[in-house]
Amino acid sequence: APRVFSGIKPSGGLTLGNYLGAIKRFVEMQGGDFETIFCVMDLHAITVWQDPEELKRATREVAAGYLASGIDPEKSILFNQSRVAAHAELGWLFSCVARMGWMNRMTQFKEKAGKNAEKQSLGLYAYPSLMAADILAYHATHVPVGEDQKQHVELTRDIAAKFNHDYGTEFFPLTTPVIEGPAMRVMNLRDGTKKMSKSGESDMERINMIDDADAIAKKFKKARTDPAPLPESLDELKDRPEAKNLVDIYAGLSGVSAEQVIAEYGGAGWGQFKPALADLAVEKLAPISSEMARLMDDPAEIDRIMAKGAERARAIADPIVAKTSEIMGLIR
Ligand code: TYM
Repeated sequence: APRVFSGIKPSGGLTLGNYLGAIKRFVEMQGGDFETIFCVMDLHAITVWQDPEELKRATREVAAGYLASGIDPEKSILFNQSRVAAHAELGWLFSCVARMGWMNRMTQFKEKAGKNAEKQSLGLYAYPSLMAADILAYHATHVPVGEDQKQHVELTRDIAAKFNHDYGTEFFPLTTPVIEGPAMRVMNLRDGTKKMSKSGESDMERINMIDDADAIAKKFKKARTDPAPLPESLDELKDRPEAKNLVDIYAGLSGVSAEQVIAEYGGAGWGQFKPALADLAVEKLAPISSEMARLMDDPAEIDRIMAKGAERARAIADPIVAKTSEIMGLIR
C-alpha cells in the first residue's frame, strides 16, 4: 500500500516555509489513498546544539502545528522520532551502507558547516543516513518535502538500492519525493536568494506560524522588493527573486497557481499587493496559530498524543528493522 512518511525538525519555531512546503501538503495527503505518518524529528534537531528545555518546547510546538493545521491523530500516525528506537537503530545500519563520498556531496551539510566542517558534530554529517532510516523503517513509498530536502530523499533511494543490491533482496522500496505546488521553496523576506528558515538571524526575514496579525503585516510591508510593479506574465518574474517569492507565497496560501496570481494582480504595485498578501496570510494563519496556542497550554495532552502515535509507529517499524538485521546476518 502507498505509505507517506515525512517530518519536521524542532530546531526553532515553525515558519511559513514549513507550513507551505510541508504541513499544508501533509494535510492534503491525509485521508486519501495513503497511509500517513508524520513525525517530529528531535534526533535530527540535536545534530546542532539545542537547549534541552527549548527542545522540549519546540517539539511540542511542531506537534501543535501539525494538529492545529488539521493533522488528525486518528487518521495519521503522529509522534516524535526519539520515542521509536527503530530510527536510531536503522540509522546505524544504514551508516554502514552509505558511502562517505555520498555524504560529501550533500549540499545541506556544506551550507550548514561552511568553512567549519571540522567543528561540526558527527551526527550532522551522518544526518542523511538517519533520514533514510526514518523513511525506510516504514517502507514509505512517498515523502512530501520542500525543495531543499530533495537531495536527501534521493540519497534515501541510493541507500535502498545499494542495500537491495548488496544483500540480493528487494526488501526496501525506492521512495519517491513529492514536491508539488507553487511554494516549495519559500525565500527569506529580506534576501530573495536565501531560503526562509527557522534559524535565520533576523526575525524580520521569516513569518512564524505563531506571529500575530500585526507582525505579519509589518514583515510583509518591510519585505524587500524591487520597485517595479508586478509583471503581466510569469516569465518576467525570473530575474526578480523577491517579487517571485511574494507571488509564490500568495499562490501557496490561496491554493492557486502563480499564473493565476499574476492574472489577477499583473500591473499592481506593491502598495496594493503587499497588504492583500498580508490579509491573506492572516486569514489563513490566525486560526491555526490560535489553535496552536490553545494546544500548547496543555503540553501533557500533546505528549499523550505523541506517545500513542509512537506505539503505532513501533508496530510498523520494529518488524522492518528486525528483518533488516536478519538479512544482514545479525543474530538477535
Ligand atoms: P526541516 O525541519 O528543515 O523542514 C521541514 C519541512 O519543511 C520544508 N521547508 C520548506 N519548504 C519550503 N520553503 C522553505 N523555506 C522551507 N523550509 C523548510 C522542508 O523541505 C521540509 O519538508 N531533514 C528534514 C527533516 C526530516 C525528514 C525526515 C523529512 C528528517 N527525517 C524524513 C522527511 C522525511 C528537515 O530538516 O526539515
